[in-house]
Amino acid sequence: MPILYYEQQKIFKLDTPHTTYAIQVTKYDFISHLYYGKTIQDLDLSYLNEPFCWDLGNAPVENREMPVSLDRLPLEYPCSGISDFREPALQILDDNGQCVCDIRYTGHRIYPGKPGITGMPATFAGTADATTLEIDGIDPVLNLKVTLIYTVFEKLDAITRSVRMTNQSEKNIRLQRALSLCLDLPHEKMDMIHLSGTWSRERAVQRHPLHSGKQAVDSLRGASSHQQNPFIALAAPHADEDQGEVYGCSFVYSGSFYAEAEVDQFRKTRLVMGIHPHDFSWLLAPAQTFETPEAVLVYSDAGLGKMSRTFHDLYRGHLIRSPYKDIKRPVLVNNWEATYFQFDTEKILSIARDAAELGMDMFVLDDGWFGHRDSDNSSLGDWFVYEQKLPGGLKHLVDTINQMGLKFGLWFEPEMISPDSDLYRAHPDWCIHVQNRTRSLSRTQLVLDMSRPDVRAYLFERISAILSSANIEYVKWDMNRTICEPGSAYLPAERQGELKHRYILGVYALMEQVLQAFPKLLLENCAGGGGRFDPGMLYYSPQIWTSDNTDAIDRLRIQHGTSYVYPVSAISAHVSACPNHQTARTVSLKTRAQVALCGTFGYELDLNQLSQEEKEEIKEQIREYHQYNDLIRSSDYYRLGDPFHEEHWDAWQFVSKDQSETLFQYIQVRAETNAPVRRIRLKGLNPALRYTDSATGKTYYGSTLMHAGIVIPGLWGDYAPYRLHLQSVPPTDPASCQTK
Ligand code: DGJ
Repeated sequence: MPILYYEQQKIFKLDTPHTTYAIQVTKYDFISHLYYGKTIQDLDLSYLNEPFCWDLGNAPVENREMPVSLDRLPLEYPCSGISDFREPALQILDDNGQCVCDIRYTGHRIYPGKPGITGMPATFAGTADATTLEIDGIDPVLNLKVTLIYTVFEKLDAITRSVRMTNQSEKNIRLQRALSLCLDLPHEKMDMIHLSGTWSRERAVQRHPLHSGKQAVDSLRGASSHQQNPFIALAAPHADEDQGEVYGCSFVYSGSFYAEAEVDQFRKTRLVMGIHPHDFSWLLAPAQTFETPEAVLVYSDAGLGKMSRTFHDLYRGHLIRSPYKDIKRPVLVNNWEATYFQFDTEKILSIARDAAELGMDMFVLDDGWFGHRDSDNSSLGDWFVYEQKLPGGLKHLVDTINQMGLKFGLWFEPEMISPDSDLYRAHPDWCIHVQNRTRSLSRTQLVLDMSRPDVRAYLFERISAILSSANIEYVKWDMNRTICEPGSAYLPAERQGELKHRYILGVYALMEQVLQAFPKLLLENCAGGGGRFDPGMLYYSPQIWTSDNTDAIDRLRIQHGTSYVYPVSAISAHVSACPNHQTARTVSLKTRAQVALCGTFGYELDLNQLSQEEKEEIKEQIREYHQYNDLIRSSDYYRLGDPFHEEHWDAWQFVSKDQSETLFQYIQVRAETNAPVRRIRLKGLNPALRYTDSATGKTYYGSTLMHAGIVIPGLWGDYAPYRLHLQSVPPTDPASCQTK
C-alpha cells in the first residue's frame, strides 16, 4: 500500500517507488511534516519531530503542560496570525477584519486513484496508478474546513498536492492567500534553481545558494510569464545532472504564481508555492468551496537529469490528454516568419504547394486572416474571415490545401481585443479595465475579461463557427500581452480581487469547451513565444510554442532550460530562415534542423525562396524526422552539455525506454583552432548490451560508450552539427566488438 496510516503514532507514510513522505498529527492536532526524501523503512518516525522548547523570543501557542512554539514545528499547511512567523500558506480575513486562522486535524481518507480539480488542469491517474490521501482539518472558530490532498503515483517518484477549503460558517471568510503547497525541509544547505528570462530568452537556468531569509520567483502578469517559470528546485550544492539530492516543484497553473524558499532562524528551509497572493483575494461565502491549483513534487537522489525525466514521464503519461500525445505530430509549415501580415490566397497556396512537394503534412495560417488585420494595430476580437485578403474565404483555401494532401491549421488570439475592432466598438466594457483610468495598450491591444460568461460565449461561438466552416485540424492559440489595470465591469466590488484567477479559470473553461466540441483538434499553445509554457497549458495542448526566438543557437539554451521540467514532445521548434529574423545569425540548414528535431518539428520560412539544393536537404530532414521522432517523443532525455556554462559545444541524448536505441546530437557552438579532441560519455545505456553505430556499422558495449565515451570527430566551423545513432544488437563476445 503506497499510503499507510499508523494509528498509534498518528503518522501517515506515503511511499513512491524510491521516496518516502511522512506526516504526523501532533499532540495538539497540528498537521506536521516529518520527512521527505529517499525511501526509509521505519514506521515510527516521531523521533524526527523536534521537542518543542521554550525559546526566548518565540511566541508559544499553547500554555498547557508544555509550551509549543509553532515557529519550530514543520507544518504541512501553515496559517496566518499564529505563532509560526514564517511564510504562511493560508491567510484569511474574517468578518471582524482579523487574520487568525488555526487549522487542526479532524480526520482523513485514503483511497485508490486521484481526484480532479474543478475547472482546473491537474494530473490524472487510474485507480491502479495512484493512491490519494485527504487530510481534513478545521479552524473551529472560523468554521473553515481545510482538506489537504496528496496523491502518490505507483510508478513515479512524484507526489501531487492541492487544497480544498469550505466555509462551514454563516459568515463570509475572505481568503487572502491560498497556496497549494508548503514543504518544510530540515536544513538550508541547498541551491535554489529556477528558470528565468524574458521574451525571446525564456527559461534560462539560474542557480544560487540559499541564504538566510526569503528568496522568491513569481509572476504578477496574469500569465505564468516569460520572466519566471512556475518551477523551483532545491538541490544539494554538489548536485549536477547525475548525482545529488534534488527536490523539484512544479505548478500546474498558467496565471500569476508565487514560489518561495525561506531559510529561517533555525537554518531550516520552507518552500511554498501557489497562486500569487498579491494578485488574489477570494470571498468565500457560507457553504462555498475553493480549490487551489495543483503543485507537483519530484524527489531525485540522482541529480537534475533524473528529476527532469520524472517530470517528463509524469506530464507525458498523466497530464497531457490530447489524442496526439503519443503519436507523431504533423510536420508543419507556418507562414508567420515567411510573410508576417503580407499575404494573400495565392501566396499561401504557393507556399503550401512547395510544402506538399517537400513531404510536409500541414500548412498553418498564422496571424492576419481575420477582420481587416494588415498589421498588429487592429481587429483582434473580429473573428470573421478577411475576405479581401482571402477571396473565397477559408473554405476555398482549406479545400485547395487539403487537395494538395496537406492538413490545415489556423492561428487565433482569443483572449485579446483591439480598440480598432467592431467587437470593441460594440462592447467597450468587455476588456479588463478600471473605470476612469488609462487602458494601457500593449501591441495595440487590450485583454478581454475572460471571467465574463458573455465574453466566453461570444468567443466560443466565433471559434466554433470558424472551425466548422472548413476542415481545420490544428489551432495555434496565442496570447500576446499580460494584464495591467486589473478591473472587471462584470465582477462586484467585493470580488474584484478574484479577477486574475477567474481570468485563467475562464481561459481553461473556453479551451475545454473548444476541445469538447472538436475532440480531434491538435491545439498548440503560445504566448508571444513561451510566455505561458507551463503544466496548466499542457493539460489542453500537447505542445507549446517555445519561444519567438527561432535562432538555432539561442534555442540551445532555451530548449535546455525548458527540458528541466517539460518533455521534448511538448517543445515546439521550427526551422526558420537565415540570417535569422531575431538575431541576424546565419546557421546551416542542417544545424537548424538538428535543433528543431529536438522538439515537435516544423518549418517557418518562405519555401518559395529555397534553392533546389535546399529543397533536397529538407526532404532528407523530413525523412529523418520520421525515422527518429518515435524515439525522440517517447524516450528518456539526457542533457550532456550545458550551454549556459560551456561556450564551445552542447549535446544531448535520447534513450529508448528499453535501452535498445539511442540518438546522440552534438553542436560545435564555437570552433577553436588547434582544438582538444573531445570525448563525451553517453548515458542511460545498458552496459551489457552491444550497440551498433547506424552510420559506420561499428559496435560498442554500452559500458564502453558510457565509461570510455565517444570521440567527437573534427568539425569545421562554428555551429557545426554531429549526430550518432546507435541500436542494440544481440549480446556476443566482447572481443568481436569494433571489428566491423
Ligand atoms: C506571437 C507568436 O509567438 C508568433 O509565433 C506569431 O504567431 C505572432 N504572435 C503573430 O502575431
